[in-house]
Amino acid sequence: MSDLIAQLEQLQVEAQAALMAAQTTPETETWYTDFLGRKGRLTAMLRGLGQLSKEERPLVGKRANEIKEALEAALAARQEAIAADEMQRTLAAEGIDVTLPGRRPQVGKLHPTNQAMREMVEILKQMGFQVFDSPEVETDAYNFELLNFPPDHPAREMQDTFFTTTPDVILRTHTSPGQLHAMRQYAPEPIRVILPGKCYRNEDVTARSEMMFYQIEGLAIGRNITFSDLKGTLLNFANQMYGEGRKIRFRKSYFPFTEPSVEFDVDCILCGGAGCRICKHTGWLEILGAGMVHPIVLKNGGYDPAVFSGFAFGMGIERQAMLKRGVDDIRLFYSNDVRFLARV
Ligand code: DAH
Repeated sequence: MSDLIAQLEQLQVEAQAALMAAQTTPETETWYTDFLGRKGRLTAMLRGLGQLSKEERPLVGKRANEIKEALEAALAARQEAIAADEMQRTLAAEGIDVTLPGRRPQVGKLHPTNQAMREMVEILKQMGFQVFDSPEVETDAYNFELLNFPPDHPAREMQDTFFTTTPDVILRTHTSPGQLHAMRQYAPEPIRVILPGKCYRNEDVTARSEMMFYQIEGLAIGRNITFSDLKGTLLNFANQMYGEGRKIRFRKSYFPFTEPSVEFDVDCILCGGAGCRICKHTGWLEILGAGMVHPIVLKNGGYDPAVFSGFAFGMGIERQAMLKRGVDDIRLFYSNDVRFLARV
């Protein structure tokens, strides 16, 4: 009897060691088949019970059951440990490394034209100008005639026009027709308005001109408005837009709707007047056209030119953005190259 018990205990030691050596769930299943299964070694050993005497049989049987239960408990514990281990490995393999630097999401921003427009509107608003909305589709009367461009006058050729199939209806070539809309709405009250918006010209598209572009028009009308008001307004604008201490100059010019008419320059923001590629070695940058509102235009707007006077100015928004941000091709603004849009 002691013989069989010793063999059982020897088997238990062997089985324990084999179980510890098993590293995976399938390995523990093989272990079960080998030791505890129907054709396993313990079962085989228990077949020897039949040869034992009546007295020995229960003692050995009891011991054998204890060993079997101990091994079954050991198997359960081992399988649990392996499962926990496998879970740990899966988590490590599929896990997120929180120490990796994150990827920045791409964030949109205002279009360069809008940035420049808002900046300019902000500056002018602080000087008391209010934004006035005016249409992009105009009549010949508003775009030209009421602004003192007589029919067939050569000044019309300064602005090549997009016509529509409706007679007299055109796309505005500048924001100046908005002057008449503002005047006719408010006359005879004094006004100070700015008119930002799209304009269209039937021109070849080049690095310097697009067929669609933006302008801001300014208009001030009152009882004692003089050219020095225009000068102060534009100097203030130039200092805020391009930096304090700007030098400015006026050059005489011609526009049918102003008299006198001028073009307004600031000293080159890149070279400070020494001469460079941006200012074409003149030291000056042309910013806008301006002048005192022509008496005929005042009258067309509903103001008595004997009582009222006013100044007006008009400038290209993309042009200001180009100067300020060193862009040398206006076509970049509307070609939707995200590298340009992100940079400017
Ligand atoms: N409308 C002109 C243009 O597009 C610019 C301009 C010049 C506007 C003089 C004005 C002005 O208000 O007084 O070329």
